Amino acid sequence: MRRAMVLGNWKMNGRRADAVAWARAGAALAVALPGIDVGVLPACVHLAAAREAAQGSPLLLGAQNLAAWSDGAYTGEVSGAMLADCGASHVLVGHSERRHVLGESDAVVAEKFERAQAAGLVPVLCLGETLDEREAGSTEAVVLRQLDAVLARCGIASLARAVIAYEPVWAIGTGRTASPAQAQEVHACLRSAIAKRDAMLASLVRILYGGSVKGSNAAQLFAQADIDGGLIGGASLVPDEFAAICRAA
Ligand code: PGA
Repeated sequence: MRRAMVLGNWKMNGRRADAVAWARAGAALAVALPGIDVGVLPACVHLAAAREAAQGSPLLLGAQNLAAWSDGAYTGEVSGAMLADCGASHVLVGHSERRHVLGESDAVVAEKFERAQAAGLVPVLCLGETLDEREAGSTEAVVLRQLDAVLARCGIASLARAVIAYEPVWAIGTGRTASPAQAQEVHACLRSAIAKRDAMLASLVRILYGGSVKGSNAAQLFAQADIDGGLIGGASLVPDEFAAICRAA
């Protein structure tokens, strides 16, 4: 049985006071819902403040990105070890905004995945197709290519310490959610591709859905057999909405 997980991706939003308020709300949720994993992903400059605000609660803390290198002469970058030192246990890799706005390739995403694990962080590997790719019928080919890039570098066993998030690019921040059936189809495809290599790992790895999840659509999405929770952007900035989503999980 996979334990449900809901992660709030705050993206580049909020000031320190917001991070403290949102982390306090998240901490209260994590305490109230011991049957699931609740986590928040602040901008890295707010990690320490969020950690302090959530102290003593089981709220998970994560980062949204890490450098593809370990510590050294990489001006402006933040290493996995630094994030872990600030209290992060998880880190997103391959979020579509990094792939499409910042130009991260499959190869860079795989390097970051490897770096995250080397720093003791659990990578949350984000995969997803654009609208053009969906309309061209290549959704499965795209997400499997993105997954394979990581497995080729890090091996199938690396999934024992990772989470996957399927986030169709056309659903992120658009208010357009994949239908539960559309999401389930891709989740099942990912799980069966993993099962071909390691059936046990496939049954254990959590695959979250992300893309315009709200309190009103979360329960239907999370009821699908292969959807193990959510990666929540905009709605994670609204405590009542985030709470409704967590309760749905
Ligand atoms: P959204 O973002 O919930 O605002 O669509 C999800 C994400 O980008 O992780």
